[in-house]
Amino acid sequence: MSVQRSLSPPRSTPILHKPASAGPILLEQPGIARPLPASVEVAKISLAGISLAYRTNSGQPLAALANINLDVRAGEFLCIVGPSGCGKSTLLHLIAGLSRPSSGNIRVNGKPIRGAGTDRILIFQDLGLFPWLTVRQNIEFGLKMKGLARGEREVKAREYLRLVHLSQFENSYTHQLSGGMRQRVALARALALEPDVLLMDEPFAALDAQTRDLLHDELERIWQETGCTIVFVTHNVREAVRLGERVVLLTFRPGTTKQEYSIGLARPRHIEQTDVAAAAREILECLREEITRSRDAEYGK
Ligand SMILES: Nc1ncnc2c1ncn2[C@@H]1O[C@H](COP(=O)(O)OP(=O)(O)OP(=O)(O)O)[C@@H](O)[C@H]1O
Ligand SMILES: [Mg+2]
Repeated sequence: MSVQRSLSPPRSTPILHKPASAGPILLEQPGIARPLPASVEVAKISLAGISLAYRTNSGQPLAALANINLDVRAGEFLCIVGPSGCGKSTLLHLIAGLSRPSSGNIRVNGKPIRGAGTDRILIFQDLGLFPWLTVRQNIEFGLKMKGLARGEREVKAREYLRLVHLSQFENSYTHQLSGGMRQRVALARALALEPDVLLMDEPFAALDAQTRDLLHDELERIWQETGCTIVFVTHNVREAVRLGERVVLLTFRPGTTKQEYSIGLARPRHIEQTDVAAAAREILECLREEITRSRDAEYGK
């Protein structure tokens, strides 16, 4: 059973509120108090009793996820953190419909998912851009799969290239771009499909700090402009607090929800803000226990 906590805005020390009783928690900052998403009637994404066991090469089952219960409301920016190997990517693959759980069910807009769909787009860490296509052709590729005619594809690809500030590079090949620019192409390619749900698996992990900060700003702006629902996986707790409205912390394998934090800090935020750092410290303390468990399991005590 997970615990819900609320990280409130700046004070000398970060404040964690444990619910005195079951039910929604209100944030403390005047004017932004709102209930936690658990109180929302129909969730955009609803995971109920999700467990998944892989079969290893030795034939033994490996429990990757155990009894995940999680609702994501429409338009929410949810971040998921957890130690390496706890099943974060597995969870995104399940939501994307790329694999099926061993038990439990996943609903989007109240309906069970049936495989992958262009309403839910997963951005992988290695991006999956095609090096033999130009930037615009990369974006048009998914639109072609979706059945858009050539003219419509061009218009839409240009629109989304403008959104990520890459109009000047539409005819470049991906090897001619920086890492941050490639990341923006992947973002534009996903957004051009106008998904309801954007699933992001450590998308900024390989970037330098300045590029990552810029992309945080852009992602926040795009999220606010498009109103899409984002589920964002990261190792970086500060990044999770910088971006998320809610942070869900998973336990070491088999991953299950250990704790949830509602982040009520005003936007725009910056990763170096003291209140962001303070909130992240609180979460990190809880994550450390799981990282220790993961190290003990991987390397022996
Ligand atoms: N196809 C697979 N077959 C067998 N085991 C798998 C497979 N994919 C993942 N696993 C195992 O499932 C567990 C969870 O993997 P997953 O990739 O979801 O973790 P993660 O939380 O994303 O880790 P990281 O933070 O390192 O990316 C790991 O122990 C991994 O070895
Ligand atoms: Mg992963």
